[in-house]
Amino acid sequence: MDSVVATQICKRYGSAANARDVLKNANLRVDAGKSLAIMGPSGSGKSTLLNIVGTLDTADSGTVDLFGTNPFSLTEKDLAAFRNKSIGFIFQSHHLLPQCSVLENVLLPTIVAKSNSREALDRAKHLIERVGLTHRINARPAMLSGGECQRAAVVRALINGPRLLLADEPTGSLDRVSADAIGALLAEIVREENTALIAVTHSPELALRMDATLELRDGALVAIERTSAGTAS
Ligand SMILES: Nc1ncnc2c1ncn2[C@@H]1O[C@H](COP(=O)(O)OP(=O)(O)OP(=O)(O)O)[C@@H](O)[C@H]1O
Ligand SMILES: [Mg+2]
Repeated sequence: MDSVVATQICKRYGSAANARDVLKNANLRVDAGKSLAIMGPSGSGKSTLLNIVGTLDTADSGTVDLFGTNPFSLTEKDLAAFRNKSIGFIFQSHHLLPQCSVLENVLLPTIVAKSNSREALDRAKHLIERVGLTHRINARPAMLSGGECQRAAVVRALINGPRLLLADEPTGSLDRVSADAIGALLAEIVREENTALIAVTHSPELALRMDATLELRDGALVAIERTSAGTAS
């Protein structure tokens, strides 16, 4: 199976009179090399859903299938190893370590994965060049712009060759020009790497760059149709 599939996901927060059903039978599917945007109002459950698909949180019911693996059937140790190898995360803020250079930051997940260091270094350099950061490779995050930091975060998320990339408002703290550049980069790079991408976003521009858009409405995901005029260029 070359897809990520979440089926009938339900998640309730609180209990008894204070219970709130955030996700009510949410379904999604994204294939390798394809990108999916998830939109919806603040508080609608987008991050909750992303965290469940990313195995950082569990659903009350429903199933998650990550390329043929049920992550929740794994032991805690195996799940941690699976997550580190198979899933890359990008958040609204880059979370780069301030005392480390761009190169050191993007290599950190390879140390956890105990990858071959020569191969990891070659891949890091290749991806850093791919995102246009070679001239900043030894700079610390404080010396970079917000867009440059986010490009480094994209490389860090991809360094272990994940099959799934999850991005929670990846352009949310960037100016319009930098946001557009990151959106274009994400759309291209997941195709090149044959990685499935799910991007939660409030930005219609970013959503249009993805292959499909779903909106979270009252706990369920609804497909958003696009007109031909709305196709990303
Ligand atoms: N750990 C938790 N305990 C209780 N309620 C929670 C918890 N996490 C999230 N919620 C609630 O679940 C709902 C959905 O939260 P979530 O963060 O998934 O929304 P979101 O769509 O990502 O919002 P935003 O666009 O603001 O990031 C919110 O009402 C939130 O308060
Ligand atoms: Mg959120």
